[in-house]
Amino acid sequence: MSMNSVPLGSIVQEIAEEMKLAGDRGAVADYIPQLASVSPWHFGMAIVDMDGECHVAGDAQVPFSIQSITKVFALTMALGAVGDALWHRVGREPSGSAFNSIVQLEWERGIPRNPFINAGAIVVSDILLSHYEPAEVIGEFLQFMRMLTGDDSVAIDQIVARSERDTGFRNVALANYMRAFGNIHHPVDKTLGVYFHQCSLSMDCRQLARAGRFLMTGGRNPDTGLSVVTPQRARRILALMMTCGHYDGSGEFAHRVGLPGKSGVGGGILAIAPRIASIAVWSPGLNDRGNSQLGTLALERLVQRTGWSVFGPG
Ligand code: DON
Repeated sequence: MSMNSVPLGSIVQEIAEEMKLAGDRGAVADYIPQLASVSPWHFGMAIVDMDGECHVAGDAQVPFSIQSITKVFALTMALGAVGDALWHRVGREPSGSAFNSIVQLEWERGIPRNPFINAGAIVVSDILLSHYEPAEVIGEFLQFMRMLTGDDSVAIDQIVARSERDTGFRNVALANYMRAFGNIHHPVDKTLGVYFHQCSLSMDCRQLARAGRFLMTGGRNPDTGLSVVTPQRARRILALMMTCGHYDGSGEFAHRVGLPGKSGVGGGILAIAPRIASIAVWSPGLNDRGNSQLGTLALERLVQRTGWSVFGPG
């Protein structure tokens, strides 16, 4: 189906209407107190296409904690800093285990399976720290996100960051465990300071879809025409999103949606239809793998109606 024949505006509206009626909305994450207070009734969706048009519906302009979706952007920055050397410290295989699992790390001697599980993202934070202090890394990260979004209002929610720090015992364990294997090079509190602040970035669906545009275009920022990453790197980041972006639910997401995507425990999902669209959905209720229940359903309906799955229409 060609892009122009898809009435995107009405499809997005229809899906948002359907999601209002959904019975099973999943359960809002409660392990970070600040996230537990968000209403499960939110649903928002935004689609930016190759012409720069943005179609939105529902709560597309309500900011939420994008959490693990930031792992895509932090990885992009770290690859820019150290290139393929990053892959000596982090793998590229699906983990098949929960996002915060520690068991695999023992067998694999402190090298996390991929950059999208917590352990892998913590190593990425440690790599970003190589030449800087935590506040500088966070500043750079924020600037990067504002540049990609084309919106200087994007900000870190300091209350969420504090809540993460006060309750992130598993992340502290993961970081210390990897430090014991020599795969964390900085004091654990500095590395985690970067990680917790990064996770606490607030964005709305519209901003998030805009931030993902460089992955839709093969690496170019449509606002400036400048390259953010090479086409090869964009393609490889998308491959990781497809295989690892939903933790132990990645196979299920590929089966149902068939787009590279990255979820966050705040209920957001960024999905990319290469050369077609950058899509953000948000609904805070999660399924049993920690991925947005209605976000996944909405994307499934979208690909059914547009034929955008990378595996073909149907
Ligand atoms: O590490 C954590 O607990 C969170 N700050 C990020 C987790 C996350 O979003 C995992 N997602 N599904």
